[in-house]
This record gives sequence, structure tokens and C-alpha cells, in this order.
Amino acid sequence: MPSTRRPDILPLLASVALTIALSAPLAAQRPSKSTKAVPTIQAAAFPDGWPVQMRRPAVIDQHAMVVSNSKLASQAGEEIMKRGGNAVDAAVATGFALAVTYPFAGNIGGGGFMVIRMADGRAAAIDYREVAPLAATRDMYLDANGKLTNKSLVGALAVGVPGAVAGMAQALKEYGTMSLHDVMQPAIRLASQGFAVDSALYRSLNGSKRKLMQFAGSKVFYTNGNAPAPGTILKQPDLARTLTLIANEGPKAFYEGPIADQLVAEMKRDGGIITKQDLAQYKAITRKPIVGTYRGYTLYTMPPSSSGGITMLETLNQLETFPKMPAFGSARYEHLLAETFRRAFVDRNEKLADPAFVKVPVDELTSKAYARKLASTIDPNHATPSPTFNAAAEPMHTTHYSVVDAKGDAVATTTTLNSGYGSGTFVDGAGFFLNDEMDDFAAQPGKPNQFGLVQGDANAIQPGKRMLSAMSPTIVLDRNGKLLMVVGAAGGPTIITAVTEVILNVLDQHMSLADAMYAPRMHEQAWPDVLTYEQNGLSKATMDSLTAMGYVLKPTRGLANVNAILRGPKGWEGVVEPRSTGGAVGY
Ligand code: DON
Repeated sequence: MPSTRRPDILPLLASVALTIALSAPLAAQRPSKSTKAVPTIQAAAFPDGWPVQMRRPAVIDQHAMVVSNSKLASQAGEEIMKRGGNAVDAAVATGFALAVTYPFAGNIGGGGFMVIRMADGRAAAIDYREVAPLAATRDMYLDANGKLTNKSLVGALAVGVPGAVAGMAQALKEYGTMSLHDVMQPAIRLASQGFAVDSALYRSLNGSKRKLMQFAGSKVFYTNGNAPAPGTILKQPDLARTLTLIANEGPKAFYEGPIADQLVAEMKRDGGIITKQDLAQYKAITRKPIVGTYRGYTLYTMPPSSSGGITMLETLNQLETFPKMPAFGSARYEHLLAETFRRAFVDRNEKLADPAFVKVPVDELTSKAYARKLASTIDPNHATPSPTFNAAAEPMHTTHYSVVDAKGDAVATTTTLNSGYGSGTFVDGAGFFLNDEMDDFAAQPGKPNQFGLVQGDANAIQPGKRMLSAMSPTIVLDRNGKLLMVVGAAGGPTIITAVTEVILNVLDQHMSLADAMYAPRMHEQAWPDVLTYEQNGLSKATMDSLTAMGYVLKPTRGLANVNAILRGPKGWEGVVEPRSTGGAVGY
């Protein structure tokens, strides 16, 4: 795997300690009834070797907060709220700014999901996932011998019809208060006047050089053959022009106007199949969020075409059948998480897909009764094996941002190009990268994709279909129905597990948000049948117990990239992913 795809993660060094014994059988019982509206905060303990220097304190502010993977983009959101905009106005401003300052994942050439919950109780889930082009075929990524090629990953054939511009404009129209023109001004300014490249952007561009030099973006990001050194002012005049067109003329400029022409011309140059008809037909969809409960807290999260909400709720509903969660980091805890995630991922990979093409049993999968049935199959002392598919999961890139305004409106948005810088394809003259989201389909059902995800026919390629996602933007209310948390992540399937774990760390383990984000993570996705954990994040005793229970443990350098906001005792707490870069900005 080329290092170009590695997310920015601090190396996790040093040794492990802390021993928590495996005890007490797991029994499916009714949850205990707690009456506290918000979780109390307690000190958290992690293994000795867990790197202290990684921990990030929360930024705390009274009125409003934006947390994203780029401080400049968070500031764009803050600027809009200070000018009277609400959380949706700010989220759209941040989204467009990320396309300028965080081209790794921020985008107008990709897609995403936005979960909105207004302080007055209205809620929506905007689905602006890419769709397969009309000329797409089920086997388009197989060679003459039926072997899977890498064309779903790199180059113009990998590109799904982008949804970002339509989705952000739709969210703004339905829930915002300002014009597209006004909320896009910070992004336009950043593109036209430029901004100082920081070391994270330099490292990222430098790492992706081999892939990106093949495409037109080389003229923007490697002007003299190299990535811009930290401190260089990076201006993107083509992108500024594109953004200005969208700001002045609306999404039509992108889907039917001059930008559509440029995009289709790029397709033709590089063997892509997106046509003007594909672009003109693209529609973002406003859906009802999936609403569920966990021990009295309420969650608003993303329905299909993302698998995130269902898989998360299925896991939480199973966990809720256990009256008390075991101690964080104990073998019992990891076992419970692994087994509940495993069961939820089996359903995910077999049953979930674009609801316009496949009937998804949402109510059944998210019901408490179904969860009780699933949880009753967990063996308290042994791992339940999944069929083995041994493909390596590879880290890619997406980005999540969370926004809260002074009224308590909340927005959780996750947006992606899929791989870092997407397919690498860059719309010449228009200044932006295009996604490689087609790889999220089961390009060959039964065979793993780049995340090692093994998926079935339900998610096979069909023209006009949305590829199944794992993105899980989520809003949590406290036991009195008041906004408590806004959270989401990047990281392919590890999005689902990491978002669930951060929520559990706060609600069950009583961690502060800073600790909940800093805490070591694990991941289980049924296939391949391995329990992935962050290096030095599990004690030796826990690892020994898990191995004895039948788990195959696989260390990794870092799992997912979460950005979250929590209502704490002193105000809104914003915490940027400690394993990555970004900024929490509030006032
Ligand atoms: O939609 C999905 O599930 C993937 N395209 C997300 C990719 C991703 O999170 C990569 N990021 N680190």
C-alpha cells in the first residue's frame, strides 16, 4: 500500500500495562434505569504505553462551535454564525471552505451526508451521495479474465456523479437563513487570496505526489515539481472561479452550466463515462433521519444510502440488553463490542444498499426485539467466528465536521472523495478533484473492496444507484431531549465503530469528550475475521484473554478520524481528532 494513502496519524509508540480481568458471564438482561439527564464525568484510565502527547484538550465556548479537519474551514463557519447565520449556514460555509483548504477529502467533486436537528425539533438527513453514471455496468471494473482491476480507484472511470454542490445547496435552502452567495464568500476568499500551507498539507500532498502527478492537479499542487513547502501561500484561481460561478448562479452552474462542460471534457480525456445527462439528472434527497434510543439518550443518524445509522443502532441496541457495560479496555468490554459490531456488520454487508434499488428492512434491523435476538447468540467466553476473507483494509480519506449554533441547532456532516484526493482525476481549468466513490459498490460481489469490506449483490453496480456508505453523522440528545453531542468520522467502515465508541465512552464510560476521543479504539467488521486494535491501546492481559477467547488480533496505527462537540458543564466542548489535524473554533 503506498504511503500516499495513510491518514495523518501520530505514531503510537511505547509499551503496554494495565490489567483488567475477564470475569462475570455476559447475560442479556433489561437495561438499568438511570435518571440523570446527562452523563457524569469520571477520570479515565488507559494502558501505560498509550501516548499522552496525543491527547487534545477541548476548546470550550458558550455560544457556538465548529470542529473540522481544517482550522481555516472551522473559522469560515464561525464567521458565518457571527454574521447571524445558523448552524446550517455555517456547515455549508465550512463544507465549501474544506474543498479549498483540505483538498484531501473536502470537496465539491464528491458527496456526503448531513444530519440536521434544529432547536425547534425539526430534523432532516440530506443524502448527497454520488450515483453510478447511467453508462455504468455491473462488471465494469473486471478485466477480460473476470479479475478485479484498480479502475474503481484511480482515474476517471472511478468517478461517481458528484452530489456535494447539490446537497449543500439543498440543505441551505431548506434549513439555512443565508444565501449560497453569502455563505460561500469565505471559501472564495481562501481560494483566490490563498492561505499558508501548513506542514500537514505539505506532508499529505508530498505523500500523494505519485498518484496526483498523473493528472491536471499537478499544475496547481506541484508547480515546480514539488509539493508547496510549509508557509507557501497556495492560491487556487481556477477553483475560485468555479466557486464564484456556483455562488452567483447556484448549483445549475455545476450540473448544467460551464462547470458541467469542463467536468465532461475531463471525463472524455481520461476514459470516464459521466455525461451531461448524468449531471443534469443528479438530485440530492432529503430523508428522515434514523431515530433511535440508547439507555434513555436519543440518537439522530443517517439512513441508507449510508449503512452508518442502521449498523450503529443495531450495535447499540444489542449493547443495551446488557445492564452494565464492563470496564473500558477489559477483555469483556472488547469482546462485547466485537461481537455486537460483528453481528451488525454481517447485516450491513448483506442487506444494506440504496433503498431506491433494494428493499432495506430498516425497522426490523433497528428494533429492540431484533437486537435481543442477536445479542442472545453472543457466547460470553468465545469469539463467534465469521467466514474468512483475508483482504487487507487500507486507510483512505473522508472528513467529518460538527456544528452547533447559539440557538442549539446542530449539524453533523460527513463528506468524502473516498480515497485521499479521490480518483486523482482533476477537472482541468475548474480546479477540483473528483471522487473514486464507485469503489464503495461491490464491484465483484463477495470480493473485498479497498476497505476489506465484503459485500453482496444488494450493493452491486447499477446505473443511477447510490453506492453504500459507512458515513455516520450523528446527533445525540440527553435524557431530557436536549442537544448533547454532535459527532461523526472519516475512515471507511471504521467510521461506524469509532463513532459508536466515542458515544459509548461519553455515555457509558463517563469520559470527558477529550478522553473519549483520545481513548484507544478497536474495530470489528465481521470480514475479514480479525479484531483490529490501535497499537499499544490494549493491555497485555486483555490481549491474552481475547486471544484465548478465539480472536485474531491485528494492530494498526490509528483508527478513524472523529470530530465532535459535547455540551459540557461549562459550555460547548469541541474536540478535533487527536490522531489528525484540524481546529475547533467557537465563541
Ligand atoms: O462512504 C464511505 O463509507 C467511504 N467512501 C468513506 C471513505 C472514508 O471514510 C475514507 N476515509 N478515511
